This record gives sequence, structure tokens and C-alpha cells, in this order.
Amino acid sequence: MKNKVLVTGGAGYIGSHVVRQLGEMNYDVVVYDNCSTGSPTSVLHGELIIGDLADTEHLYQVFAKHQFSAVLHFAASLRVPESVVRPLDYYANNTRNTLNLLRCCNVMGVNQIIFSSTAAVYGEVGENPVTELVPTQPINPYGRSKLMSEWLIQDYAATSSLRYVILRYFNVAGAEPGGRLGQMSPNATHLIAAACDAALDRKSAMQIFGTDFSTPDGTGIRDYIHVEDLATAHLDALRYLEENGKSQILNCGYGQGYSVREVIERVKAISGVDFPVIETDRRPGDPACVTACADKIHKVLDWQPKYNDLDQIVYTTLAWKNYLQSKN
Ligand code: UFG
Repeated sequence: MKNKVLVTGGAGYIGSHVVRQLGEMNYDVVVYDNCSTGSPTSVLHGELIIGDLADTEHLYQVFAKHQFSAVLHFAASLRVPESVVRPLDYYANNTRNTLNLLRCCNVMGVNQIIFSSTAAVYGEVGENPVTELVPTQPINPYGRSKLMSEWLIQDYAATSSLRYVILRYFNVAGAEPGGRLGQMSPNATHLIAAACDAALDRKSAMQIFGTDFSTPDGTGIRDYIHVEDLATAHLDALRYLEENGKSQILNCGYGQGYSVREVIERVKAISGVDFPVIETDRRPGDPACVTACADKIHKVLDWQPKYNDLDQIVYTTLAWKNYLQSKN
């Protein structure tokens, strides 16, 4: 058995894929999750402790009981539109709880952390693809809550032995090709999930939020990364820290952008369902185009993505949602 690691939010969408890969690599895993959006059934490996990062006493007990070599910190609220209407919840659950976790790491001598950050820290970027050196100017509370968490980690690392890998996720989508894991939360708001829901429901329409962006077809462009490849980046980051790598901030994306219309076309083609689409106003806080420069992650971690293909992302999402529907 390899080192013991703590995975906050390990019952959630991305965390559960990482936990499964950690299991395959023989890590000893403890998942700490309040299961507000995640599900115990998604934890395929290790021990699940139901708990909230706001409950510092419980968190200290967990740290005291186990000897963690590293923490992978996924637990967070992550819906951009929700963050605009409930900012305080986002600063509490994302920023304050990262502080709670760092305090535990400090007291208990854990000095490796992998942090789930987001491309939302960049905001409305002038130039694409976005490198890690582009100034961070988040335009919504979600992005700001994550950027503040990055600052906490960096400032603490500057005065301690903590080493970190901050991974800035672009648009995560898809599901485990094995069919056991995927996004559990109903009422999907993310584009690919929403389009797949419309395809499977057959009756319901989906919306395009904004057709007047300064992009070739007027709709928003994003860099969609398959969750399985994103999970692999965490395993690579962990190995990197174990081999004494120095702290890094790394974009996680493929460097390829697709517009909302292009995504919808692929979902229609792969599902074979011509679901109705309504064009409506822009959503508050949505930038026009965000794609990653992924050179650094390839170089630093030798990351080798396997599912760099929009069709694979759509296909695995449809398969997962079909499975969820068949269970209900
Ligand atoms: N969109 C629609 N209709 C929908 C859903 C989304 O037109 O039903 C559009 C959005 O307006 C946007 C694009 O599809 O142009 C992508 O929207 P998502 O909601 O799927 O994702 P976001 O880009 O808003 O945010 C996601 C994550 C963030 C991350 C960001 C990085 O939620 O955590 O990608 O670009 F920071």
C-alpha cells in the first residue's frame, strides 16, 4: 500500500473519479465529504467519513486519527450562476473552508496539497489560449472564492514547508468510461449535461445563453476536458509532489475550444435526437471565450490525456445519464 491521502469532496463528481484512480494505484484513501451534492455510492475505494469542512473539531479528529502524507481538496460549491445570487455561501464553503483545512495541515504537519481551482479565476480573458501567467481577474463570486483560496495556499506555503499543485480546471465534462461514475446531481446547469438531459428527455428544450458574443457563431466558447483525464492529472500531481517537485499552478484543459452551438450539434448527432433549442439572453458573469494553454501541465507533470475528443465526452455523458434514468 502506498501513502495515505485525504480527499475532501471525494464523493463528488471529480473527486470520485480521482478516488477510483487512487485505488487502482494502491493508495490508502480517506474521503471527507458532507454528501450535500456527492453520493456515498460514488466512493469506490477507501474509507468515507461524512463530515463538513466547517466542522473544524471533526476535521482535526480525522487528521489526528490518520497520518496523511497529502491532501487533495475538491470539496466546494461550483455553480457560477448560483454564486452570483449566493456569494456569502461561496466564500464560506470555498474560501473559509480552505482556510480550515490549511490550519489542520499546519497543526498536523501535512505539507502536500493538491487544490481544485478553476479557469474562472481568469475572468474575461483578452487573449486565448490562456496561460498561467495571464493576470487573474475573476468576474463572479465563484471565481473570486477560488482565487482567494489559491492566495491562502500560496501565502501559507511561503512561510511553511507546504508544497502545492493548484490545478485550474477548464470545463469538466464526461463520465467514467466504465460506467460506474459520473455527475450525480440532478437539474444539470453545465452545458454538456444540460444538452444530454434535453436529448434523453426528448420533450424538454434547452437554452443557449447569449448569441451575441464576439465569437464566430456568437455563442460562448469553452475548453471541455474529460473528467477521466482531469483525474489522471491529479495522480500525476501527487506523484510529482511525492518526488519533491516544487509548487506549481497548472491549467487543466486540452487547448481546444468549442462553441455552445458546436456542442449542441454534437449532442444531437450522437444521441440522434433533434431536441428543441431556445436562444435567450446572456447569463450574468459569462465570459465569451476561455480556452487553456496546456503546455505547462504537459511539461511539468508529463500529463498524457487519453480522451481528448468532444465526441467521447458527449458519448460517456449520454451513457451515464441513460444509466441514471434506467435506475429511476
Ligand atoms: N450554456 C448554455 N446553455 C446551458 C448551459 C450553458 O448556453 O444550458 C453556455 C454558457 O453560457 C457558457 C457555456 O455554455 O457559454 C458553458 O457554460 P457551463 O455552465 O457549462 O460552464 P461555465 O463556463 O459557466 O463554467 C464552467 C465551470 C467553472 C469553470 C468554467 C471554466 O462551472 O467551474 O467552466 O471556463 F471555471
